[in-house]
Amino acid sequence: MDKWTELTITTEYDKWIFLEKELYNHGFYSFELIDPRMDQIDNREGRWDFFDEDIFNDVYDGITVKLYSQEDFNEFEDLLQTIYEEDLGDANLTEIDDEDWKNNWKSFYSTMEIGNKFTIKPTWEEYSNVDNRHVIEIDPGMAFGTGGHETTKMCLEHLEKYLKPGDDVLDIGSGSGILAIASKFLGADVVIGTDLDEKAVEIAKENANLNNVEVEFIVSNLFSNVKNTADIIVSNIVAEVLVLLLEDIDKYLKPGGYFISSGIIEERAKLVEDALIKNNFEIIEKTIDNQWVSIVGRLKDA
Ligand SMILES: C[S@@+](CC[C@H](N)C(=O)[O-])C[C@H]1O[C@@H](n2cnc3c(N)ncnc32)[C@H](O)[C@@H]1O
Repeated sequence: MDKWTELTITTEYDKWIFLEKELYNHGFYSFELIDPRMDQIDNREGRWDFFDEDIFNDVYDGITVKLYSQEDFNEFEDLLQTIYEEDLGDANLTEIDDEDWKNNWKSFYSTMEIGNKFTIKPTWEEYSNVDNRHVIEIDPGMAFGTGGHETTKMCLEHLEKYLKPGDDVLDIGSGSGILAIASKFLGADVVIGTDLDEKAVEIAKENANLNNVEVEFIVSNLFSNVKNTADIIVSNIVAEVLVLLLEDIDKYLKPGGYFISSGIIEERAKLVEDALIKNNFEIIEKTIDNQWVSIVGRLKDA
């Protein structure tokens, strides 16, 4: 039976935003989050229904994060050092088997309705599609993007609003492939997803097959291996990386095309807004959800 190394980190509420930033800086985009305040933060029907209430019993009164590695604990070494040096919480490593790993995820993740058109569900759940939604099946794995994160949700909502059938789409930093797959469900023509992480690209390909959509996923550092142009570019990466991406975007985004961005924490939003304006965009929309920002820009025609 496969073994997993489970890293559990507990931290105080006011340190969470810094810890989350460090998780991303160290390349950990997929993790379980136990936040006892979660049901109070956002109780909108159909949005936060993926927590098993039992997990709130006897949990730490702060934030608990669980990460998994199928390699060994060395993968966590740099992250652990940062946590200790910056006093970001307490960490504990244990070994678990495959069955426990699956069951852990199952108590965290269930069907979510997002926006007016999408439902994201794990393969193991039944869903009665009474509203004729686009049902995307994604199981949690080692890639970010199961729909539960604010940034992914805002990108899905913006895709729903700005994507027209027949549009070509580039998803830069595709993770699980959720945004690229969603674009296909909305009627996009050519969709290409890119990720720096080979493992994420493999998982995204599997997810496209699972959902019977045709998307090309490639390993690429931002646009380094991209040859196509698109009507919509969507990217959910951190602000500093989005600023770099914007320097080259006019070679890949058609004039009048939309750039849907997220992954931006509130205090970095201005960085991205300034970069959009510098690179000939008009800012069309900015949404904020629980300190995370998503910005939509339109590339001016000339
Ligand atoms: C926050 S996740 C977003 C995943 C998914 N698109 C979503 O919205 O849920 C960011 C992804 O960007 C990838 N990434 C980070 N830097 C990148 C870069 N320079 N080029 C391509 N992908 C990158 C990470 O590996 C990760 O899978």
